[in-house]
Amino acid sequence: MSDRKHGLDALLEQVQSGGDVPAHVAIIMDGNGRWASERGLPRWMGHREGMKSVRRCVTGALDLGIRHVTLYAFSKENWSRPLEEVSALMRLLSEYVERERQALAEKGVRVRVIGDLSRLSKQALKAVESIQGTTEGGEELMLNLAISYGSRDEILQAARSLAMECVAGEISPADITEDRFASALYTSGSPDPDLLVRTSGEMRVSNFLLWQIAYSEIHVTPVLWPDFGESDLYEAVLDYQRRERRFGRVTLGA
Ligand code: FPP
Repeated sequence: MSDRKHGLDALLEQVQSGGDVPAHVAIIMDGNGRWASERGLPRWMGHREGMKSVRRCVTGALDLGIRHVTLYAFSKENWSRPLEEVSALMRLLSEYVERERQALAEKGVRVRVIGDLSRLSKQALKAVESIQGTTEGGEELMLNLAISYGSRDEILQAARSLAMECVAGEISPADITEDRFASALYTSGSPDPDLLVRTSGEMRVSNFLLWQIAYSEIHVTPVLWPDFGESDLYEAVLDYQRRERRFGRVTLGA
């Protein structure tokens, strides 16, 4: 067994005996551009390399028994990047779907794309339908891919749809509880993330899952996304296991 594999297995065991594994991990995949620039490569090559990290991350999540993963692949703000980069990211989405959908289905991964899909090209929409269709029976891991996603936008569309139900007389304003509101978000069906990971050292949440991360633990790693692997996911979970989650309460006996 290689030293790397041995180290990974040891880390996996450490996590497995370390306590609860988060049910839902959300990740802001950052640093692709810097990874490419450091190598004198165009930015899109950083994104392409980042696709391999998505695969490692899914493998790591399955090995750990994490049931929900949400990845921030493309924000609404990303539409204003240079056209060349936007096109490359859309191409990568199709490439990802072509390469991975079968393997994902075989591993029991269900993919759901969340975001404002109205701006996607026909080809990108086809890719979304294809991966969602192929993987819809997956029961091991729900992989939410946030594409053309903005959290304020998501909250607004939830508010609008609940307002419509009120206007239609289907519910009254008093029926709008936290649970009902959460069900109107794109992430309906996934629990709130226990752990939010951000790569590349930036300390921002960048309009990602603002409602859902109210009580999430946050782990920021300096690792750039294309360098992120299973061991980084395991380290993030180990960090999570060391936290004391209080949800605003005090610890009994303290
Ligand atoms: C942020 O890095 C990353 C993105 C905007 C795109 C993330 C996309 C992928 C990982 C590949 C596609 C994945 C799927 C699942 C289709 P950045 O460009 O902001 O990096 P920088 O801060 O170093 O410039």
